[in-house]
Formats: sequence, C-alpha cells, structure tokens
Amino acid sequence: MKSDINGTHIGYEVLGNTGLPLVLIHGFGLDRSIWRNMLFEYMPDQFVILPDVRGHGESDAPNGPYTMSQLADDLAGLLHILNVDKVIVCGHSMGGYISLAFAERYQQQLAGLGLITSRAEADSETKRESRYNLVERIREKGAVELAESLAPHLSKDETIIRETYERIKQTSPLGLIGASQAMAERPDRRDLLPKISVPALVVAGAEDQIVDLEDAREMSSLFPNAEFFAIPNAGHMPMWENPLVLAKGLLDLIARASH
Ligand code: MLT
Repeated sequence: MKSDINGTHIGYEVLGNTGLPLVLIHGFGLDRSIWRNMLFEYMPDQFVILPDVRGHGESDAPNGPYTMSQLADDLAGLLHILNVDKVIVCGHSMGGYISLAFAERYQQQLAGLGLITSRAEADSETKRESRYNLVERIREKGAVELAESLAPHLSKDETIIRETYERIKQTSPLGLIGASQAMAERPDRRDLLPKISVPALVVAGAEDQIVDLEDAREMSSLFPNAEFFAIPNAGHMPMWENPLVLAKGLLDLIARASH
C-alpha cells in the first residue's frame, strides 16, 4: 500500500489484527520487508504496521535534507490515515531515532517504546563528518557506496551481509542522502528517556559492531520502566539473526503495554 502523507507517498503494510497496534520501523538503507519472516514465524496474528521510511523501500525519495521530526510526522500521518491512535513504536537503529522523535512529539499516542540496536545520543563530531563524507560519495557513485561500507558491519553471517548489500544498493541515493542528513543533525534525546513512563524495551545484539552492548544497557537504565534484552548470536540485525528471541522481547513489551 501507499498513501499520500505530508505531500509524499509513503509505502506501508498492515499485518494481523490481534492486540495493541505495533509499529516496526526499519533501519538506514533497508525497508519494511526486514520484519516479515520474524512476524510470520513467531507473531503471526499480531496487529503490526510496517512503514517504509521516506526515501526507502516503496516510499518516495524527495530531495532532503530530512529531519527526524519530519520522519516522525510521516508516521503520525500514516497512523491518522489508518485511524489508529495508541501504538507501541519500535525502531531498528535509525528507526529507533525516529521512534524517539515520535515519542517526543506524540507522547499521548505512545503505549510502549522499543529501541532495537539503536541509541539516544546525537552523533559525535567525527561521526557527523563521516556521514557528510558518505553523502558526497553517494552523490558521486550512488547507493553502492553505502552498501559497501555498511553491509559488512551489519552481521557476521555472510548470507545476511550479501542480502543487506543488495537491498542497500537498490535504495534511492536521494533517500540515503536525506536520511544521512537527518541522522547527522538529530539532537541528543537522552534527556527524554526519564520522561517516557510507558513500558520500554531496549534490545542489543551481543555481537553488534555498530551499537555497543554496554552503551545500550546504560541507556536502558535511563528509562523509568524498561526491560533490557541482550540477544545472543546477533549483531545489528537481530530480526534475522535471532528472530525468536527478538519476538519474545516484543511480545513481552506488548503484554506489559496492554495492562
Ligand atoms: C542503521 O542501521 O540504521 C544505521 O547504522 C544507523 C546509523 O548510521 O546511525
């Protein structure tokens, strides 16, 4: 499905019809299909909304820069069209940055929050510079520049590296550039975490090369009501590397948010 939201066509799908609606937001360079196998296998009936972030998947990729607030507004627009009010929002990596922007702007709609191999702090100066450097390389050579630099760090599993490489390579360069700018300029949202009183879930991959396990554990302690899940045998892609344990964490969050 595609809907016109804030002047942009946003791709999405809705699965299942049981329980509180759960939104799952994919990470940088990927698309909503990353969640499907885990959902079909372990959470087949759950009411789930899967958006493609602006610039990714089937969504349009207008010229950027994008901002995290704008990406959160896209989600709010989609929920409005779907006539859904209260939701649990979980994001993978960049999807987690969007989830935090949504939590800040639409707190009254939030029934639960999940950060999956993600973080709340802003980019360091070095990280920001490397993003703008990547933006220039993508402008010159296309999405393959990101596929080559990111895919080998997403997992140790060769099949997952190959699969993510192909997906990233097919993503719109304009979308990648707009999203890179949104990530580079996103504010530090650690101050928001103590104010998120709804149930929260922080998921870390024990072998993640991008988000440090101990940093994620520390972040989880900033929430008043968070569970921390360290997923064994998983790097940055637990929905593929260890879907059973990630699904358990999500089902546990849904149960806590439904009380
Ligand atoms: C992601 O997987 O979404 C990215 O690695 C996040 C980032 O670049 O900060």
